[in-house]
Amino acid sequence: MTYYITTPAFYVNDLPHIGHAYTMIATEFFAAHMMQRGEDVAFMTGLDEHGQKIEKAAAANNKSPQQHCDDIAESFTRLWDLLEIKYDYMTRTSSPAHKDFVVDFYNRVKSNGDIYKGTYTGLYCVSCEDFKLEKDLEEMDGQLCCPVHKQPAEEYEQENYFFALSKYSEKLEKYIQDNPDFISPDYRKNEVLSWIKEGLKDFPISRVGLNWGIDIPDDSGDANGNKQKIYVWFDALTFYLSGLGEDRDKYWSKDTYKVQVIGKDILRFHAVYWPAMLMSAGYPLPDKVFGHGFLTKDGMKMGKTLGNVIDPVALTKDFGADAVKFYFMRELTFGKDGDFTQDSFITRLNADLANNLGNLLNRCLNIIKKNFDGVIPDVETSAEFKEIYENLEVNFFKLMDKMSPHFALEELFLTLNKVNAYVNDTAPWKLLKTGEAEDIKKAQICLVTALELCYKAAIYLAPLTPQLSLKIMFNLGLISDQQFDLGNNPKDNLYQEIFSFNRLPKSLNNGKINLDFKPVFSRLDLAEAA
Ligand code: MSP
Repeated sequence: MTYYITTPAFYVNDLPHIGHAYTMIATEFFAAHMMQRGEDVAFMTGLDEHGQKIEKAAAANNKSPQQHCDDIAESFTRLWDLLEIKYDYMTRTSSPAHKDFVVDFYNRVKSNGDIYKGTYTGLYCVSCEDFKLEKDLEEMDGQLCCPVHKQPAEEYEQENYFFALSKYSEKLEKYIQDNPDFISPDYRKNEVLSWIKEGLKDFPISRVGLNWGIDIPDDSGDANGNKQKIYVWFDALTFYLSGLGEDRDKYWSKDTYKVQVIGKDILRFHAVYWPAMLMSAGYPLPDKVFGHGFLTKDGMKMGKTLGNVIDPVALTKDFGADAVKFYFMRELTFGKDGDFTQDSFITRLNADLANNLGNLLNRCLNIIKKNFDGVIPDVETSAEFKEIYENLEVNFFKLMDKMSPHFALEELFLTLNKVNAYVNDTAPWKLLKTGEAEDIKKAQICLVTALELCYKAAIYLAPLTPQLSLKIMFNLGLISDQQFDLGNNPKDNLYQEIFSFNRLPKSLNNGKINLDFKPVFSRLDLAEAA
């Protein structure tokens, strides 16, 4: 299968925040997981660089819009590097190739008869870069404000070019009904269907008075010389195709499974505007648009004014990329809003990575080192656990397909709990002392089974926590120091080779663990973390 997965194009009005990192971490987990399953995967991310919001931010920083965008773009790529996130394409909407594509897209929509001139009167929120109805706003200090950004909406009256969205209501509704997985999770689908039922209105796709944007191709300007620029959402949404360049026909095709991961706040743009625009321009529609939930901190919305934002750079520098990525995918239910607390961060990482997985591996390796000089006993794994592995594999894949990474990881750690209980009950350290052949065999089966499961965990976790997985591989004697340094690029051949095994591969370690094994995850201390 060819699989194309995307994040939204992040706004570059400010430095990247934890919400951006959350979308990115999840999307990369799906991409790398599918790659591990041998699929042909392309992962696209981007930066949304035009519009009034960016223009204002650049002015506030005394920079030209392009300079401002270049500087912030660097902060984004630095964060993705720090989080060890690899992507195949990154589109910046201020790039010439993107501009050319937007113009071409506009012309396709126009030649389909879906663009006309009209006057728009209404309210506009610059932070959302979206038109608002009075009913969607709340009154604050006698002004109508955006409920998300708490800023007054601006009065807006302009002659603009419109996109004939209303023409697509029925087709869109049919597509949603015919493709039950298109809008996910399910509860978001109902929201979209209710918008369609309320009636879709044509919307302006151009603006005057905006300098930092793409020109409407055939607009000669008004009497005052004001030219129409393309509305930022009509521009930005096309980055999913523009950035593919020569690979566009391959990845944005009917035969490719196209998944778009977004936050719930931008569902309307992706589940209504975007598919209608694609229908009009004659391109296939995405197979899935998944709207994830929002992060809060200690039960509260995060915001600069509240002073409670989580800085993704500081968090990653303090705890490492593996820890940050694992926490967000394991602790929070993808799709639902999720709360970050320092306690849950420390508790989750210690419980799963340091104790459940880390200690299990360490205990078994110690016994094998002490009693068998590091040679992994040549016995079959326990039959009961063989079945448990098989169920895990089926469930893990199924849950990842459903875009429920938290449940997939839960399955894995519940299985590791069972292995821990099995090791505790069997107590191989005691059995090995009796000197009875039967006891020794029982201990050996237990140890080999536990190692097999740790190996399996390393494989499943590799797309999310590559360094942790490499440490496990190193301890199991599957990779040498030198290879260990080679890192974690999922596209690296070495990585592919190692992770394609489904059984602890004796061919790679000659049946011996690495006697110089090290703990794979050090316990975090709450006091130190604070
Ligand atoms: N530029 C638009 C997207 C254009 S796509 C054609 C945009 N950018 S954004 O920077 O505001 O948001 C990008 C992503 O970050 C969205 O998926 C959004 O939901 C996500 N998040 C922003 N704040 C968030 C939280 N507090 N929590 C979780 N995700 C959040 O919208």
